[in-house]
Amino acid sequence: MTCVVDPTYIQPVEYRAKPPVPVAENTPIIDFSLLSSETVDPEAKAKLAKEVGAALRDWGFFHCINHCVSREIMDRVRENLALFFHQPLEEKLKVKRDLNNPVGYNNTDHTKNTRDWVEVYDYMLRDPVEVPASHDPEDKDIMLLRNQRPAFPPGFQDVVHEYGQYLEKLGFQILELVALDLGLPEDRFEPLFDNHASINRLNHYDPCPAPDLVLGKGWHSDISALTLLAQGVPTGLEIRGLDNEWIKAKSIPYSMTIQNGDLMEAFTNGLYRSVEHRVVVSGESEMYSSALAIVPAHHVTVEPLPELINEQHPSKYVGFNYGKFFMVRRLSNYKKLDHDNVRVHNFKKSA
Ligand SMILES: [Fe+2]
Repeated sequence: MTCVVDPTYIQPVEYRAKPPVPVAENTPIIDFSLLSSETVDPEAKAKLAKEVGAALRDWGFFHCINHCVSREIMDRVRENLALFFHQPLEEKLKVKRDLNNPVGYNNTDHTKNTRDWVEVYDYMLRDPVEVPASHDPEDKDIMLLRNQRPAFPPGFQDVVHEYGQYLEKLGFQILELVALDLGLPEDRFEPLFDNHASINRLNHYDPCPAPDLVLGKGWHSDISALTLLAQGVPTGLEIRGLDNEWIKAKSIPYSMTIQNGDLMEAFTNGLYRSVEHRVVVSGESEMYSSALAIVPAHHVTVEPLPELINEQHPSKYVGFNYGKFFMVRRLSNYKKLDHDNVRVHNFKKSA
């Protein structure tokens, strides 16, 4: 049989999407408009926090509408992404990401050891950022990461940086709501995300001649505490629902899909679930999206917050260093590994 796509993209049969996947009808949509008022009523904010908490506990994600990220900047980013990704490959490779510089362009991402049908451009919200020099736990050396600045389109890095400032504000608003939902002071997460190393991933999915055989992004949970995903229209996002079956995410123009990641599952001692998801691609349409991974600085130990631990609720996770977790996870971005990548579940204590 002749394959119409490179075999490295072909998903094992058990990981392929098996249509029809139903559209999620009852998934949470949360309106953030009250946070844009000059003065925010604490009772209304507490109510919003409970809504956010319920969504992240039950579903692991929600669609956020009327948030603080301007539609104008979202449109401008989309225009810039089209210009950047439609350049000849040799131009994009000038800002290529590699093992020494893990931010920039890449078209060989792997998830679950199969190549994803996607090309990406990664950049950090803060620049420079310190990360461990290697994934070796014994290696204490630190390296400094800097964003690359593509020459085309002009001002690209400035536009995505401005976008990142909006996303950062929204991310910290959600961290406040999460803290309130957990019964903690709203600034509880601030020290944990001081000098954060958050990375925004800009994605482009070309139409695929064999959409049933590949995935734009294989199924996974995110490395982040929270992921702020701007799904494009059309979108290929599919999520594991309440019964663990796959559902198609709603596509709401200018919304942000907020996903709970591995780090927040550990911080909350498993109260919030790290949601599994994947991206299916289209045979006809190209797709764009952006996904901001809110993550702490490299030296932070990720472990259940002590306030959530007591005799009735013992700690369910062993603490781990975020920087080394990041460095191990990113190994799979470049090559096929002979094992599944590390996840928060690897740090779960046995019952
Ligand atoms: Fe993801």
